[in-house]
Amino acid sequence: MRLKDVKVGLFITGGIAAYKMANFARLLIKEGAQVRVAMTPGAQAFITPLTLQTLTKHSVLVDTFAEEDPEVVQHIHLADWCDIALVAPATANTIAKLAQGLADNVVTSVLLAVTCPIVAAPAMNVNMYQHPATQRNLEQLRQDGVSIIEPATGFLAEGYEGKGRLPEESVLLDHLVQVYWSNNYPQILAGKKVAISAGGTIERIDPVRYISNDSSGKMGYALAQAAKLLGADVTLVSTKPELPLPLGVKPIYVTSAQEMFTQMVALQEASDILIMAAAVSDYRVVNASNHKIKKQDQDSLAIQLAENPDILAHLGQHKRPDQLVVGFAAESQHLIDYARVKLAKKKADWIVANDISDPSIGFNSAENRATLLGKDGQVIELEQQDKLSFALALFKHLGGEVR
Ligand code: PMT
Repeated sequence: MRLKDVKVGLFITGGIAAYKMANFARLLIKEGAQVRVAMTPGAQAFITPLTLQTLTKHSVLVDTFAEEDPEVVQHIHLADWCDIALVAPATANTIAKLAQGLADNVVTSVLLAVTCPIVAAPAMNVNMYQHPATQRNLEQLRQDGVSIIEPATGFLAEGYEGKGRLPEESVLLDHLVQVYWSNNYPQILAGKKVAISAGGTIERIDPVRYISNDSSGKMGYALAQAAKLLGADVTLVSTKPELPLPLGVKPIYVTSAQEMFTQMVALQEASDILIMAAAVSDYRVVNASNHKIKKQDQDSLAIQLAENPDILAHLGQHKRPDQLVVGFAAESQHLIDYARVKLAKKKADWIVANDISDPSIGFNSAENRATLLGKDGQVIELEQQDKLSFALALFKHLGGEVR
């Protein structure tokens, strides 16, 4: 729930992508947002206000002068209500009006009065998008502080390829979340470089078989998103290229523990915080085969294993005094005792002691709960919550530590 209780004003203008806003409004509500909608006359040619009213359970503003309550000036009331405003799809016409400060319909009137951050998602024909007037107007909006989401390139409604499509819902949502949080959460990691590992490493046995573990990468990705929302420059070393990448996070995709070791070690010099959230295979297969191993007429097959480098221990050993190195300890028994041993042995600054015997937290779960152990004896309980909230809470404790 990345937008829990956030008041989102959804401003729909008259492009074909307007019909997609019905689903997007539902997505916003699923993310915990409160949603109010205003539509231009053009938008109503593509989708009815009743659709949005039914989905959001609130009346939709379509007419500046349809004032039903004498106590309230509706367009100003909506402008004051919004925590964030999204104009999607934003047509060339509305973009031009916003750039000029016009207020000739309810959408442009509200948007001229809002004081919250505005995000605009231009969507139109490629030639309209590339027209110098549109580009000039977009530049003006950027200078006015509006955050512009680049249109996607692809098959347009006109029947040919070009740049002008409304991006996927996940892109819109990520962008909105990023803008909202960077305006509303203390930027405690601004100017800091953070390197995070995520997912379970894969140790090949042959081209079709491998040794791995149940790490889904969710914790590492939540940490990357949280660090980004808090203002950091984030690099994510991940074994999970299929997961959606948090907006603005730089990915480095790896497979094995050795590859992860190489990448994390290369990032150490330039990083302020390094976090090993990945579940790293302690061993790799020495006698891995380049070809599929055939079933043989024998009862057993030996797979020879050799120890992998301990990435966290290496980062801990080579840590500068101005760096923070954070590890996780995934334990199913003697949680705190074992985690303390890891903290000391690996020379980490902090260890997140993760009780993996509880299926509602830890591996492949939506939530996490842990005890944060510091090298100077600190013990901090992080309550059970979704992994993003957990990651934000974790950084809140680490933030003060970053010099
Ligand atoms: O990915 P999810 O499904 O969201 O699950 C999250 C998680 C449970 C995987 C995560 O929260 C977690 O606990 N990660 C650490 C898992 C692990 O490998 O723990 P460990 O106790 O075996 O290792 C201790 C620390 O040393 C870890 O930070 C690990 O990344 C690191 N390590 C381990 C072995 C190795 N060769 N190199 C390492 O750097």
